[in-house]
Amino acid sequence: MSRSVLIAANWKLNPNTLKGSQELASGVSEGIKDKKSSKVEVAFCVPAIYLQAIESIIAKSPIKLGGQNLYFEEKGAFTGEISAPMLTDIGAKYVVLGHSERRTLFAETDELISKKAQVSLKHNLIPIVCVGETLEQREKNETDSVIISQLNKSLKSVETNGDNLVIAYEPVWAIGTGKTCSSEEANRVCGLIRQGLAKLYSKEIAEKVLILYGGSVKSNTIKEQMQQSEIDGALVGGASLIVDEFVQLVLNAG
Ligand code: PGA
Repeated sequence: MSRSVLIAANWKLNPNTLKGSQELASGVSEGIKDKKSSKVEVAFCVPAIYLQAIESIIAKSPIKLGGQNLYFEEKGAFTGEISAPMLTDIGAKYVVLGHSERRTLFAETDELISKKAQVSLKHNLIPIVCVGETLEQREKNETDSVIISQLNKSLKSVETNGDNLVIAYEPVWAIGTGKTCSSEEANRVCGLIRQGLAKLYSKEIAEKVLILYGGSVKSNTIKEQMQQSEIDGALVGGASLIVDEFVQLVLNAG
């Protein structure tokens, strides 16, 4: 089966001005216009405060909008949070959930991520659910059990047809460190994730889910990563903040 390709930019807590965010979005949009492969979808997962401004820049382009987090309640007295219906209303297609920075710095658990994924799907948002092992876990040979456990618990009670779910395999030790997981190993773990999805859902559904690799992906690593049978795209942090680098990355992905 040939799946489509998704290159999702995870801007994290950047850039720190509205103008900077607009320049980044319009620079990339211009740079890939009429050049990127039609098989490749690009999404900008941006800080909540920039969602509307970026939506208006990419509205007439094929680039999609994504949030970086949400709260599992739909409305009410939850100061400081944003909801799934708010993200859908503003035009988001995706939301990143369970990124390792949220798991470690904000104490997010698999149980919480499952609740967030459920509410996302209820509001037609596609969750990009992140899983990944730490260096310590890898060195103790726990990678596979950690990944399967995160996958099973984060997707508990989450119903999908396969088209509305994305998984990102992001080894924690490769995020923002310049250390990329070898393409073969990333492919092996993405294959393990697909087997896990087949057990949770069905083989047919698992074949449809896009599985991204994330962790120090650059324009000069993406070609080899995209040649792997189980890798359907990338979740890109640092390299998504530099217009020329991200444009080249998207063009090399197709
Ligand atoms: P990085 O971040 O590309 O800067 O390693 C990836 C991510 O955290 O999603």
